[in-house]
Amino acid sequence: MDLQIGDIQETALITLAIRASETMRPNARIKDPIAKEIIDTLKVDVSNYDHFMSHEGVIARTIMYKNQLNELIKQYPDALCVNLGCGFDDKFVQVDNGSITWFDVDLPDILNVRRKIFKDRDRCVMREGSALESDWTKRLPKRSTNIIVMEGVLEYFTKEEVTKCLNILCDSFEHGYLLAELHHPIIGKNTKHHDSVKYTNAEFQWGTKSGKEYLELEPRMTLLSERSYNEEMKKYSIRGKLFAFFVPFLNNRLALYKW
Ligand SMILES: C[S@@+](CC[C@H](N)C(=O)[O-])C[C@H]1O[C@@H](n2cnc3c(N)ncnc32)[C@H](O)[C@@H]1O
Repeated sequence: MDLQIGDIQETALITLAIRASETMRPNARIKDPIAKEIIDTLKVDVSNYDHFMSHEGVIARTIMYKNQLNELIKQYPDALCVNLGCGFDDKFVQVDNGSITWFDVDLPDILNVRRKIFKDRDRCVMREGSALESDWTKRLPKRSTNIIVMEGVLEYFTKEEVTKCLNILCDSFEHGYLLAELHHPIIGKNTKHHDSVKYTNAEFQWGTKSGKEYLELEPRMTLLSERSYNEEMKKYSIRGKLFAFFVPFLNNRLALYKW
């Protein structure tokens, strides 16, 4: 099926394909039972998207995001959580504690497709919105703690766009945490060498050597932690171990910011 989605939006199929194939493995490290159903229902060809390094990276980040989110939700059980650039991810079911309020936000073309599979649930609602516009934030309930999840999104933004996005988050939510996926500038310049993204028309953009670079763009934020996906990836394969040993800086990182 031709989904009629934009270039960056297409990358949501990569993570979907990887979560579906991992779920079907005998010793699956993560489970996302709806991922395969989404692929079958949408009848999309995802055969180009599931390659070793991307697979291992997405598994590592899924585990690390989940653990980080669980820690925050334990601290703030009534938090408002936003999966900004949610794609086809159903992270709510992985971390729901019975009292968080969750919004899955993405561009209208992706949400149009997402709505073919997902329905709004109690405390888990879909909203059209862009990380580069603030209108959607005005229609959210007010909470003292807001947790914004951006997984696989900021890598596609220019420095100006990252600045705009961070400014919008700090202007719109009085207090919050941001879980951000960061990538190295070398990755930013080498989309054509990425084993899965090269099969899409999306391009990586501005990258950072350190999460501290975001603080110059949005001084209201502080950086609480920054961890390479190597932490998780090196546990599972020789290639993961070699990558972590020889070119540790090349792997993406999960950075946690607070404001
Ligand atoms: C690589 S996918 C990641 C999807 C999901 N977070 C995951 O991990 O499976 C990138 C996502 O960013 C979304 N995206 C791109 N630009 C965006 C914007 N300006 N505002 C909100 N979402 C955006 C795309 O539509 C897509 O769903």
